[in-house]
Amino acid sequence: MSVKYSDVYKGWKQDPEGFWAKAAEKIDWFKPAEKIFDPDSGVYGRWFAGAECNTCYNAVDRHVEAGRGADTAIIYDSPITGTKASYSFAEVKDQVQALAAVLKDRGVAKGDRVIIYMPMIPQAAFAMLACARIGAIHSVVFGGFAANELATRLNDAKPTAIISASCGIEPNRTIAYKPLLDEAIELAEHKPDSVIVFQREQLVCDLIDGRDVDYASAVAAAIAAGTEVSCMPVAATDPLYILYTSGTTGQPKGVVRDNGGHMVALAWSMENLYGIKPGEVYWAASDVGWVVGHSYIVYGPLVYGATTLLFEGKPVGTPDAGTFWRVIEEHDVVALFTAPTAFRAIKKEDPKGDFIKKYDLSKLRTLFLAGERADPDTVQWAEDMLKVPVIDHWWQTETGWAIAANPVGIELLPVVHGSPTVSMPGYDVQIVGADGHPVAANEMGNIVIKLPMPPGNLPGLWQNDTRFQSSYLDEFPGYYQTGDAGYMDDNGYLYIMSRTDDIINVAGHRLSTGAMEEVLAAHPDVAECAVIGIADKLKGQLPAGFVVLKSGVDRAPMDIEKELIGLVREKIGPVAAFKIAVTVDRLPKTRSGKILRGTMRAIADHEEYKMPATIDDPAILNEIEAALREHGI
Ligand code: COA
Ligand code: AMP
Repeated sequence: MSVKYSDVYKGWKQDPEGFWAKAAEKIDWFKPAEKIFDPDSGVYGRWFAGAECNTCYNAVDRHVEAGRGADTAIIYDSPITGTKASYSFAEVKDQVQALAAVLKDRGVAKGDRVIIYMPMIPQAAFAMLACARIGAIHSVVFGGFAANELATRLNDAKPTAIISASCGIEPNRTIAYKPLLDEAIELAEHKPDSVIVFQREQLVCDLIDGRDVDYASAVAAAIAAGTEVSCMPVAATDPLYILYTSGTTGQPKGVVRDNGGHMVALAWSMENLYGIKPGEVYWAASDVGWVVGHSYIVYGPLVYGATTLLFEGKPVGTPDAGTFWRVIEEHDVVALFTAPTAFRAIKKEDPKGDFIKKYDLSKLRTLFLAGERADPDTVQWAEDMLKVPVIDHWWQTETGWAIAANPVGIELLPVVHGSPTVSMPGYDVQIVGADGHPVAANEMGNIVIKLPMPPGNLPGLWQNDTRFQSSYLDEFPGYYQTGDAGYMDDNGYLYIMSRTDDIINVAGHRLSTGAMEEVLAAHPDVAECAVIGIADKLKGQLPAGFVVLKSGVDRAPMDIEKELIGLVREKIGPVAAFKIAVTVDRLPKTRSGKILRGTMRAIADHEEYKMPATIDDPAILNEIEAALREHGI
């Protein structure tokens, strides 16, 4: 008899510890857990307390020891540089062990932090695994962030070392990483002891004597010396990494991931959610700088023994809208995971799917989408073109893996456009009103998860339990507040509609409008400002900033707007995609002084809106509308 999702979910609910103990059998432990779940440690309890393990051992060494050393672990396909390579598990082990030796040599020890600031090259994955091997805690910073953001992370994580590369490559430019890195170190109060730099031939950089290390020659020397570095046993509850994500202020949140629960959850998801078999090729077209990259470019596939594909390129323009299909055909990809925005970009360039017809996609079984709401039009187009199930699934940096999905490895449930389907085992998802009481089916509310969170989810924020408690746990006691709003239908299908905070989603990238407001407000000519996310056909949302200038400022507003655009790019980075700054005389507010962002958004999106009853001066809305139209919006 075939297994049903409803039985699996019920099985988890009846015996959560038994469920995760069974899932943990897929992981090799140095020491088994004393308690599968310990409710008395951590903020809401800890998974696999007392166990010892090593994530690099599970991702690499154990496959070599099992006789799979010659199997492909990582395929690197980089249309942007015209490079392809593949690494077997044995080769990955050699590379990772050697880099681990370099790190140790530079004084990096268990529990130390290492910042990784790298483009999408195999060395980024090696760097993460090398840290895991010696029990160091990595923190990957996305290449599209500016020096200032990097400096903030340096000050919070206080790394002993940084691993970086000389440059990143975007379709329209080569980004010199080293000046950004040096500027960040200059800006930060905390200085790392060492900077290990992988020199790329596209742009070689200068190294600073005494501090900087040439990655390639140091690794080659460690390999030549035959230096062995064994996998350091760490507690299952020890941190594997910190990943900073946007919060409601300019100070990003340091989401912590542990070792044990993380591996258990990812291995479970590879089999049951994604329906992958070890040895198959799984491709997450994201970036190692995001959680999708951590979970499903590096750790999930490798721990599970699948082949992962690391892609350095874009869905369009590298060189064309057929790149994804070429990669799928060439490398026998069975599952593709990307953000809906990538499909919108392809659809725009190739609406009839002419490129798709040129390639053999017969190996592809499923397309998975996440990172932002998968709009029904995009899902429909992808279904029509690819003729495979298109699965939207919903998760967050904090959760590390899907909260809601269609678990194709167990059973393909009916796909409903606009819904990421149902709660995964481990998650008791509920919709509650502002008073914390559950709302009826089909009614909008706050989406919350009953504690404890399942394995793989954040146990807390880096050295900041207070912020963890206040940001996620205080508002609805006993529940984790996702920050998303939506509803659940009569069949238990979830619909994720919007955020309840200031987070916006731009091309699948999570950004805080609050952080952008902090940058705008720091401009000497700005009296007050508001940044909102407005609808965009390609990127889902785009930030738009409204500024009121200080009285007496007599410079041309257009010049100031240009400066503000430059300032956000300089302080947060190009990834913020901040290109709309609009000067207005006044911002619409309630009588108590709260800025009416929702109404401004409705105006920008040309939606109908109700005049807010508490508005101070309705005439301001006309001024906002006129200013937007002047800017072509
Ligand atoms: N390093 C440096 N800069 C980067 C960067 C990186 N790793 N990634 C993006 N940028 C820059 C871009 O070059 C762009 O700069 P520009 O303003 O000079 O043009 C800016 O940041 C904004 O990038 P993005 O929003 O990604 O826009 P884009 O026009 O370059 O590409 C898509 C649009 C849709 C093709 C692209 O966003 C994409 O492929 N998205 C896939 C979604 C994804 O990977 N999501 C991650 C979570 S699953
Ligand atoms: P990130 O932490 O960058 O993964 O962003 C998480 C946020 O992105 C979520 O809280 C949602 O707001 C949004 N998101 C991610 N996946 C989906 C999805 N499948 N549907 C709707 N929103 C999503």
